[in-house]
Amino acid sequence: MSIAIDPRVAAFIDSQHGLLIDGRSQPALSGAQMPVFNPATGEELTRVAAGADADIDLAVAAARRAFEGPWAAQRPADRERLLLKLADLLEAHGEELAQLETLNNGQSIHLARALEVGAAAEFTRYMAGWATKIEGKSLDLSIAAVPGARYRAYTVPEPVGVVGAIVPWNFPLLMAIWKIVPALACGCTVVLKPADETPLTALRLGQLCLDAGIAPGVVNVVTGSGAQAGAALAAHKGIDKLAFTGSTQIGKVIGHAAVDNMTRFSLELGGKSPVIVLDDCDPQAAAAGAAGAIFFNQGQVCTAGSRLYIQRAIFDQVLERLSAIAGSLSIGPGLDEQAQVNPLISAKQQKRVLDMIGQGVADGARVLCGGVAYGEQGFYVRPTVLADVHAGMQVVREEIFGPVVVATPFDDIDEVVALANDNQYGLGASIWSNDLAKVMDLIPRIKAGTVWVNTHNMLDPSMPFGGYKQSGIGREMGHAAIEAYTENKSVCIAF
Ligand code: NAI
Ligand code: MG
Repeated sequence: MSIAIDPRVAAFIDSQHGLLIDGRSQPALSGAQMPVFNPATGEELTRVAAGADADIDLAVAAARRAFEGPWAAQRPADRERLLLKLADLLEAHGEELAQLETLNNGQSIHLARALEVGAAAEFTRYMAGWATKIEGKSLDLSIAAVPGARYRAYTVPEPVGVVGAIVPWNFPLLMAIWKIVPALACGCTVVLKPADETPLTALRLGQLCLDAGIAPGVVNVVTGSGAQAGAALAAHKGIDKLAFTGSTQIGKVIGHAAVDNMTRFSLELGGKSPVIVLDDCDPQAAAAGAAGAIFFNQGQVCTAGSRLYIQRAIFDQVLERLSAIAGSLSIGPGLDEQAQVNPLISAKQQKRVLDMIGQGVADGARVLCGGVAYGEQGFYVRPTVLADVHAGMQVVREEIFGPVVVATPFDDIDEVVALANDNQYGLGASIWSNDLAKVMDLIPRIKAGTVWVNTHNMLDPSMPFGGYKQSGIGREMGHAAIEAYTENKSVCIAF
């Protein structure tokens, strides 16, 4: 049974969805619109403005004026207060935002409440605190060029400027906040391009920023396709920094565009994160952990634990239990509070996931559970466990971004280190064991931006987050976020 839709959500969906530029909602200059779908039914939910080059020009100009005008005049304490107010508004509108996200993205309402709203509000408060704690260094110099002269130097972190943020559809509101809030804490202004599929909470967020008292033009939201609005933003000469989360393929396109203009950039990209289970684990508990690592948000998570390596003595037991869990999860719309598995984002993503499973089977993988679509309508894929895989298969090498895990046995630590690192990606990894010596041996040998022990997918605003290898460049969260949105100016004084 789905929960009743909040009337404010229904009213918002039925309203006109313009681009948010300089504090005003306006249609795309071309008049173009694009449809937004409900992944649980496949039906059109509403339409939004489809922005392109000329709209991006307007948004970047508005962000530039705000950066040099009202926003530059705000004291750090003012920025902190405004961001704290935004966090309060996120919570005050929490149920509305969560329902909107679930309708547009398909994810569980529990997840939308806890992460898209709850974790987003906590992240916002954490980053608000940084606004008043951005510090440079005082440096003692040894320059000997002019006898008798003395020098003193210090560094000043300055806001990098106008930020272009391009975010994906898997956690639309949270990803937008991960970019906008640290940028604002540092004194930057933003043009946000939400994913084609999930523009709605981004538009609500833009309005809530205004309601919080953040000046018009500080946060602009241009909805539209990646190929048009996204590409125009990435190539724009008026942008000082690009912050992107999405596929490695598009991340490279963004990086090339950025380098052409010498725009600063950070990329949070794909993953194929290993889950390593040592044989001292209780097989039941390990299976539950592995299930959570992959099936959370239907595997549409950049750090999804999609490669499972289990030490041979407990391989069969863990897999049997994992398959039983996967087969027992109830499938349904995100608005059904009982449903444990929800639709994927789109028909395109559903097809991509099913095609990759099909390729895996053609390559010799054995389906222990799932492997097929579910239901008459909506973009569901049953939780899937694949065995008899080997390191050369596409299902083992490439990001699937769906509820699909591939399982491989291993005998010793050296073998699992080699298997875990034999991938282009290096975003996350988890190690499951209480054998401290083995865990401490493994941690430094795993090439990943985050290594979890006896947990997976746990993120915190204080923990730098980002990838090794093809998983990206740069770090978000923690103090790293401040470095990502500031330039470091050195000042050298002779006296
Ligand atoms: P994508 O990387 O194409 O989309 C991410 C964002 O980039 C969206 O806002 C999109 O509009 C924008 N974009 C697309 N093309 C662009 C361009 N030429 N210039 C500027 N911006 C552009 O991801 P997509 O196509 O939605 O998903 C395909 C696959 O990518 C997924 O199956 C998954 O494997 C991976 N992916 C990974 C994510 C992650 O967080 N690791 C997030 C989303 C997708
Ligand atoms: Mg794409």
